[in-house]
Amino acid sequence: MNIKAAIIGMGIGKKHLEAIEGYKNSHVIAICEKDKKKAIQLKKKYPNKNIVSNDKEIFQNKEINLVSIASYDNFHYKQIIKSIKAKKNIIVEKPICLKKNELKNIYNLLKKNPKIKITSNLVLRTNDLFLNFKKNINKQKVLYIEADYIWGRKYKLSEWRSKIKNYSITLGAAIHMFDLIMWFLKLRPISVQAFGSKKGNTGTLYTKNSLVIYILKFPNNIIVKITANAVAIHNHFHEVRVYQQDKTMVNSSLGAFSISKEKPKKIKQRYPDKKNRKKLIQNFIDILKKNKVKPIITLKEQIDLMSVCFAADESLKFGKKIIIRYL
Ligand SMILES: NC(=O)c1ccc[n+]([C@@H]2O[C@H](COP(=O)([O-])OP(=O)(O)OC[C@H]3O[C@@H](n4cnc5c(N)ncnc54)[C@H](O)[C@@H]3O)[C@@H](O)[C@H]2O)c1
Repeated sequence: MNIKAAIIGMGIGKKHLEAIEGYKNSHVIAICEKDKKKAIQLKKKYPNKNIVSNDKEIFQNKEINLVSIASYDNFHYKQIIKSIKAKKNIIVEKPICLKKNELKNIYNLLKKNPKIKITSNLVLRTNDLFLNFKKNINKQKVLYIEADYIWGRKYKLSEWRSKIKNYSITLGAAIHMFDLIMWFLKLRPISVQAFGSKKGNTGTLYTKNSLVIYILKFPNNIIVKITANAVAIHNHFHEVRVYQQDKTMVNSSLGAFSISKEKPKKIKQRYPDKKNRKKLIQNFIDILKKNKVKPIITLKEQIDLMSVCFAADESLKFGKKIIIRYL
């Protein structure tokens, strides 16, 4: 299959374009961008691509076999449904959707259309350092994990994120850390309890919780604490500590270390390793081309991850521990 792709939304969508364009004969032939100023610039930059402002033109174009959805979160659901109905494969930015019933509909429709493939851009799975963590984790020995998503881009809260009804910091930020830990452990959490704060919202248009702590219980008696911190005065960072019975692995502002004796040993693998992020989309193209590669993320993993996010937001809403129900 020769990939003829369309991108919707040219913020992070630019990164999708870079990952797709030229990879094993794949091409982006159309871009949908609703910001008029951006669209004019795009026409100049890409004179050979079809630049449109309405996604209808993407779904009606029979040539397109892959739609890369990088629009605001509130558009993802409908654009996924339209892609499936138009028999187009899908790359979608996280989160896949904003509501539990939307997730159910997407999953049911995908089960009815097994030829249509979907991937969600959970880029930490391609990170050199975290691949090293994953290789060295022994889940039988894990006691406790801490994973903090320190956003460091507080101004972003005032943009579209403050205007979308069902946007949450869980679906926008914590999702990456839930995915990272579920991927590390190859386990799904049993329960989640969340505690939120709005104190840091000062100076933004955002009115929901901007700092949330989640306590998750995993099988094997593993406790995990995750934070989504959108208001820290900090560089963008994924701080992770894996405490095992025999060693501790750390990614901190001071560097990455493995500690088994008193002296921490530096871990050399790259972080933040943004260059490797393309690999997730390129792995998906390989799957579409039926090349014999393992998917970096499966459909069920994407669906389970969303179930964890919805349970976490339910816990925040009702102020109690939630047992996670998976689809
Ligand atoms: N995987 C990651 O690490 C990661 C990082 C950043 C953003 N994201 C996700 O990417 C998506 C976009 O975020 P962003 O940071 O690029 O935002 P952004 O504001 O930087 O850019 C979004 C662009 O998409 C356009 N757009 C939005 N909805 C559209 C629609 N329906 N049709 C056409 N154009 C549309 C906007 O005009 C804008 O140019 C969000 O879902 C966000 O959660 C993921």
